[in-house]
Amino acid sequence: MKKVLVLYYSRTGNTEKMAKKIAEGLANKNIAVDLKKVDEVDVDVLPNYDGYIIGSPNYFGTMAAEVKKFIDESVKYYRKIEGKLVAAFTSTGMIGGGGETVCLDILKAFLIHGCLCLGFTRLGHYGPVAIGKPDERVEKELTEMVNRYAEVLSRI
Ligand SMILES: Cc1cc2nc3c(=O)[nH]c(=O)nc-3n(C[C@H](O)[C@H](O)[C@H](O)COP(=O)(O)O)c2cc1C
Repeated sequence: MKKVLVLYYSRTGNTEKMAKKIAEGLANKNIAVDLKKVDEVDVDVLPNYDGYIIGSPNYFGTMAAEVKKFIDESVKYYRKIEGKLVAAFTSTGMIGGGGETVCLDILKAFLIHGCLCLGFTRLGHYGPVAIGKPDERVEKELTEMVNRYAEVLSRI
């Protein structure tokens, strides 16, 4: 059974709602999922998973410092987590507020780790972007994201 870490930070609950929906969807696909807030785990868990789905609110066009700190600490596993499947998601305050750059920044860090970073054609290309709390549009995107992630994961 494949094992995925859904890791997120959320101060007011919007990103957390997205993370929960993703974790629920993965579990329904027979994938072992750990849903964790970024301060609940340390980087030593990273090698245990086949992939990570990472979410952060948009803070000034990038990820929250808590998520960046985790990623900075992950340097301990540089060259040890190559080939893991990674996707990103975010909640932002407004359209054009920088949501896409949050996802890109997360993906960019894991590209440097040599991970396989997933983009999408049928939803936000760099990952789902909620405006505030996830609405019906974003719920559909999260379902599509999980479908695609699970399908690709089954092939690697
Ligand atoms: C420090 C800070 C910086 C933020 N910067 C931006 C921003 O640059 N653009 C934007 O659209 N929203 C910005 N927001 C709004 C949050 O991204 C938005 O409220 C998000 O839904 C919060 O997610 P959460 O409920 O998971 O904490 C900012 C919020 C905070 C607290």
